Amino acid sequence: MERTLIIIKPDAVQRGLIGEIITRFERRGLRIAALKLMQIDETLARRHYAVHEGKPFYEPLIRYITSSPVVVMVLEGPNAIEAARRTMGATNPVEAAPGTIRADFGMEIGRNLVHGSDGPETAQFEVPLFFSEEEILSYQRENDRWIFEE
Ligand code: CMP
Repeated sequence: MERTLIIIKPDAVQRGLIGEIITRFERRGLRIAALKLMQIDETLARRHYAVHEGKPFYEPLIRYITSSPVVVMVLEGPNAIEAARRTMGATNPVEAAPGTIRADFGMEIGRNLVHGSDGPETAQFEVPLFFSEEEILSYQRENDRWIFEE
């Protein structure tokens, strides 16, 4: 089972969209393996977004992601990374397909509501930044066999 790290960002928390966003991932069939409300501090923000260091949007991004609590989750399923990314839509909400989280609730790339790992290596880097192994639960849902083929 593939794992991905999802962050429900400060704008989504402040706008009361936590439940709506979790519902969309759940409804898709992704299984929640870990979940918590937390405040990202500057050190963690800089580590998580290190790949963007030096880009013009880096400092505003650090201010944004540390500006309010966030909800972080580990989601799992076959092709969980791609499934989550397509559920979120393109990084820039203006370019996101209708029906995706970012298109349905967003207007600006710097307020794009949600983050998801962009590939397997990124997921392997990001998940341990936010969760210890003990916090990530392995379990089966009763209906997993009706969602996952194997
Ligand atoms: P995220 O998927 O969390 O990855 C990097 C974040 O930087 C992105 O979503 C946006 O919130 C933010 N960002 C702001 N401006 C840009 C930009 N021009 N290109 C990419 N990401 C941007």
